[in-house]
Amino acid sequence: MSNFLLASIGRKFMMSITGLFLLMFITVHLALNLLLVFDDSGELFNIGAHFMATNPLIKIMEPVLGLGFVIHIIWSLIITYQNWRARPVKYNKQSLSESSTWASRNMFILGGLVFVFLVMHIIDFFYVMKFDTHSMSTVIINGAEMEDGYKLVSELFIGCKLFGVLYILGAILLALHLTHGFWSAFQTLGLNNKNWINRLKWIARVFAILIGLGFAIIPLYFMLGLNN
Ligand code: HEM
Repeated sequence: MSNFLLASIGRKFMMSITGLFLLMFITVHLALNLLLVFDDSGELFNIGAHFMATNPLIKIMEPVLGLGFVIHIIWSLIITYQNWRARPVKYNKQSLSESSTWASRNMFILGGLVFVFLVMHIIDFFYVMKFDTHSMSTVIINGAEMEDGYKLVSELFIGCKLFGVLYILGAILLALHLTHGFWSAFQTLGLNNKNWINRLKWIARVFAILIGLGFAIIPLYFMLGLNN
């Protein structure tokens, strides 16, 4: 088993499975976060975030999600290191750029930058909501007391424009990472005939643009004062 996971196909398999799992998380996460811009009272977002924080199934999924991120990152380091060792002679840049996209050649760098964004993001929101609870305001909605996540997020984006700009940059980096990651994951898992690759590449582009736009709209919405 460990031989399979470290062999070329096993390494790619691990990246694909964890990548697809993270894609599902990102889609659900975006759907929940878009509630921030659909209801300026913040009630919808707070109800959604409260549901995610208290639902037993989601609680079980949280460590699984963390593990998914850790495996995806560690395997990307292993793959990049082994590829680097296997290619002592540098590729001719001209011929490489003709057969591949910029994003596909820079997956490690893009993923690394998304990781930097993620660390900042976890400290800003996840850490505050989970461990720094005394700094959180609470609200009562439909008789239930819950943390005011809407206030936390909106005040951060309204109060510091640089913060919003970093989030927009994070959304662009994530979208670029996904343009290659999405179809590459399906290709590794067997959808690799010519027709499907072309279709998947298009689906990947559209999906990545929607995810990037979706995440970028949220800070923009507050930075432009559209919540008033
Ligand atoms: C405008 C963009 C975003 C907003 C407003 C946002 C909001 C939030 C909030 C409020 C939390 C804390 C939830 C809680 O602890 O109850 C959170 C957690 C998290 N976010 Fe984001 N997020 C954004 C973008 C992203 C992106 C692009 C990624 C992935 C690359 C991401 C990954 C995560 C992860 C892994 C967690 C911790 C797990 C969780 O609590 O669900 N977020 N986010």
